[in-house]
Parts: sequence; C-alpha cells; structure tokens
Amino acid sequence: MDHPSPHVLLFPLPIQSPINSMLQLAELFCLAGLQVTFLNTNHNQKLLLQHTNVESRFRQYPRFRFRTISDGLPVENPRSSVQFGELISSLQAVAEPFLREILLSSSDGVTEPPVTCVIPDGLFYYAVDVGNEIGVPVIPFDTISPCCLWVYLCIPKLIQAGEVPFKGNDLDVLFENVAGMQGLLRRRDFPFYRLIDYATDPYCQIALKEVESIPQSNGLILNTFEDLDGPLLSLIRSHCPQTYAIGPLHLHLKTKLAEKRMPISASSNSLWEEDHSSIQWLDAQPIESVIYVSFGSMATLSKEEILEFWHGLVNSGIRFLWVIRSNLLRGEEWNHQFAKELAEGCKERAYIVSWAPQEEVLAHSAIGGFLTHSGWNSTMESIVQGKPMICWAVYVDQRVTSRFVSEVWKIGVDMKDICDRYIIEKMVKDLMVTNRDEFKKSAEKLSNLAKESVGEGGSSRIGEITMEQGARQPPH
Ligand code: UDX
Repeated sequence: MDHPSPHVLLFPLPIQSPINSMLQLAELFCLAGLQVTFLNTNHNQKLLLQHTNVESRFRQYPRFRFRTISDGLPVENPRSSVQFGELISSLQAVAEPFLREILLSSSDGVTEPPVTCVIPDGLFYYAVDVGNEIGVPVIPFDTISPCCLWVYLCIPKLIQAGEVPFKGNDLDVLFENVAGMQGLLRRRDFPFYRLIDYATDPYCQIALKEVESIPQSNGLILNTFEDLDGPLLSLIRSHCPQTYAIGPLHLHLKTKLAEKRMPISASSNSLWEEDHSSIQWLDAQPIESVIYVSFGSMATLSKEEILEFWHGLVNSGIRFLWVIRSNLLRGEEWNHQFAKELAEGCKERAYIVSWAPQEEVLAHSAIGGFLTHSGWNSTMESIVQGKPMICWAVYVDQRVTSRFVSEVWKIGVDMKDICDRYIIEKMVKDLMVTNRDEFKKSAEKLSNLAKESVGEGGSSRIGEITMEQGARQPPH
C-alpha cells in the first residue's frame, strides 16, 4: 500500500522562545527532505518578517511554507498587556477548529500532500485529541525544561499525597513525591510556588491537561541531550516511551548546516529588532570581562528590582551588557527617562540595549557569565557556550531550572526570591572572579558534552533519526 508522503505541521506557542526553537526544528525537517508547514499567529508572523531574514532563509526549501491564523484577540490589543492564560485560551478557540479542518482536508493533492503529522507545543494539549480523533499522529514538542516537565508529570501524585497545595507558608519544605528530586526540590522551586488553589489556577490547570495528554500522544520532543538530562529522560519515558531528546537544538541545526556546507550566519528568529551595536561594544572589551544580563522575552521586574540589579551590578565593578526590553517593567508604562538614567549612570563600564542578538552575544569571547531568568532557551544557549550563570528565576519552569543550574549541574548560582543589591554584587564577583575557575570548569565540561551530543553518532543525532521516522509514520 502507498503511504502519503510525510508532511509535518509545526505549531508553536505564540511567544519568542518556542517560535525560535520550533523554527530550528522546522529547518531540521526541511534538511531531511520533509514537507513542512509552520503555523504562526498573524501577529507574530508580522513581527518575524519585520525583524528577520526568515523569509529569504526558508526560500531555499521549496517544501516549506508558513501559514498563519489569528490568535483570537482584537488586532489593536497590545499583546504585552494580555495575560498569558488569556492568550492561550483565545488562540485555542481559533486553532482547534483550524487543526480539525486542515487534518480532515486532503489538500488539493497537487501542490502539497495532506498533513501526516502534527508537532504542536506541549501546552496545546487539545491538538493531541484532534489528532487522535482524526487518526493523524501528534508528537508534541515541549519547549520548557525537561526538569520542569517531570515536576508537571508528578503533580497528580503530589496532589494525591497532600503535598500540593502547600500546607503552611514555609517555602523551604522539600518535596517527597517527585522521583529523582528527593532532597533537592523545595516548595520555592515548584513551578506554581504561589499556588493557593490548584483547581482554579489557570496555569496549573493547563499543565495538568498537558500531563494527561502526554501518554495519548505518539511521542514527545524535548530540547535537551542525554548527558544533561539522562536520569529525568528515563523517568519521562515511563509516561511516554517515544521521547526524543534532540538538543541543544540551535547547535544541532548549526552542526547539520555546517556538514551540508550551507550558510549558518545571521539566522535570527527574533520578534524584536536586534541591536548589533552590542557586539561592537563587546569587541572593545577584554576577554571574559563582561557579564551578560537578560531576562528573556516575557519575564517582568518591578522598578525596585530593576534598581537593585542596577546597583548590584554597578557596585560589583564588573562590566555588563544588559537587555532592558520596553516591556520589562512590571505594572507600569515604560518610562524612557528612567531607562536613559540607568544607561547614563553606568556608561563607563556597561552597555544597555533593548534587544540583543543573544546567541552571538553568548558566543563572544568578552562574555564571562550570564545573569539570566533561566528560560529554557537561554539556559541551553549558555550551556552550549560554557558560560556560568546567575539565575533570577521568575516563574514556571525557570524556578526548577535555576535549582538544577546551581545544585545538579553546578554551573552557576541561584538567587531565588531575594533580590538585593548586596547579594547581587557578591554573586557577580563570585561568578566572575572569586570562584570563576571552578564554575568555568564545570560549564566547559557540559559545553563539550552538548557538542558531542549533536556531533556524528551523538545521542541527539540518534534521537533525530528516530524522531524523523516517527514523523514519517503513516496514520494508525
Ligand atoms: C519563555 C518562558 O519565559 C520560559 O520560562 C520558558 O522556558 C520558555 O518560554 P522566554 O522568556 O522567551 O521563554 O526565554 P528563553 O527561553 O530564554 O528564550 C528567549 C529567546 O530569545 C532565546 O532564544 C534568546 O536567544 C532570545 N533572545 C533573548 C534574543 O535573541 N535577544 C535578547 O535580547 C533576549
């Protein structure tokens, strides 16, 4: 019997980090010769086309195409002021019927074959139901950290054991029912640490629905590698045996492009305009003298927290490059005068931009460390470059990841919950000067393992081959 030729539909969460990693995955599929459709929201597609060369980059793959849908919100609504939960449910109202329609349609059969595999973000649990209903395989790509995903998978057990919701206010109590993390995971490291009522908390509810959908899916893709997350991957595989660890994805893609002698430079997937003057500034700084400071694309800080970071960094005497996005300030309109004063007050040893070419920044020889919110992409990008981290985790997976950075991988320190200029100053000095050699050694070791995992015969390459086979499998 003839099987339809494979056609993968990728559908990322409508935010920077998953769009970035899903585009990298899309390109890997293109390199494997698959037909690929990338489903983006109209809003993000406009930003992507405005700030990147993505259109011309993907033109070299004739079997690739973008499709767009509304995110369900009025066009004029500023997305930065919309709650994440609201965005996810408004998008679901549009995406669920769209997926059903596209999977039922057999296409025109002339320009492209019908979709034979869906790769949605792990949070789009409903895509698994739609695929199962129609008989099209669904392999979610979970773009958060695997250590957090494992905690999600344990939440039903934690609820059953009475560990969640918390009884009492002590955030240093250790969890007993998260296998593999006994003696490690405290309440303050829990993704929903402010949780009062798990039955009504929208984020926790989405996570629980995702947990239910994982065993119903045809596999799971994770942006990690066996040498980093091996023990956790074994545990995750007890829920989903076909779990493909194919990361670090950005390095995986670069390695494949290099092997095929294809261009790999200027491959930004940014929704903001990258300020390349940051690289010129770095070019003028001594080797490993600068700490890079960035809190990703969504995390916010209060004005008081921004000032504590500013004073801590300035008082440390270490040079720094800081990304201060226009939506970084929590609960207040962006104040240009405030930003100007911050930049003016530290210009001798620091440089502030509103968005940087992060991969290029982390790869720069002047960078010696990274003060990060512990978003999963930032963490992987830092691991690849062997840069030790100071973690200021804000929410969800960042809270678990930062614990792993400091206590499991030992490639940095975790500030967790105390934003104080004296602590920041001390941590910056420790990371960049006092304990530099120790952190650098463990970060470089992990960086080498990351490189091996995507090299020929590496574990992520084997993961990639089985993942491609999974995506090529015909419907049941
Ligand atoms: C979100 C969540 O906040 C995070 O917890 C989860 O792990 C992934 O989704 P985000 O805040 O976007 O992530 O952070 P992160 O995962 O670190 O991704 C940010 C991406 O933007 C990175 O790929 C980084 O290279 C890029 N970036 C960031 C830039 O290109 N320039 C910048 O100035 C800042």
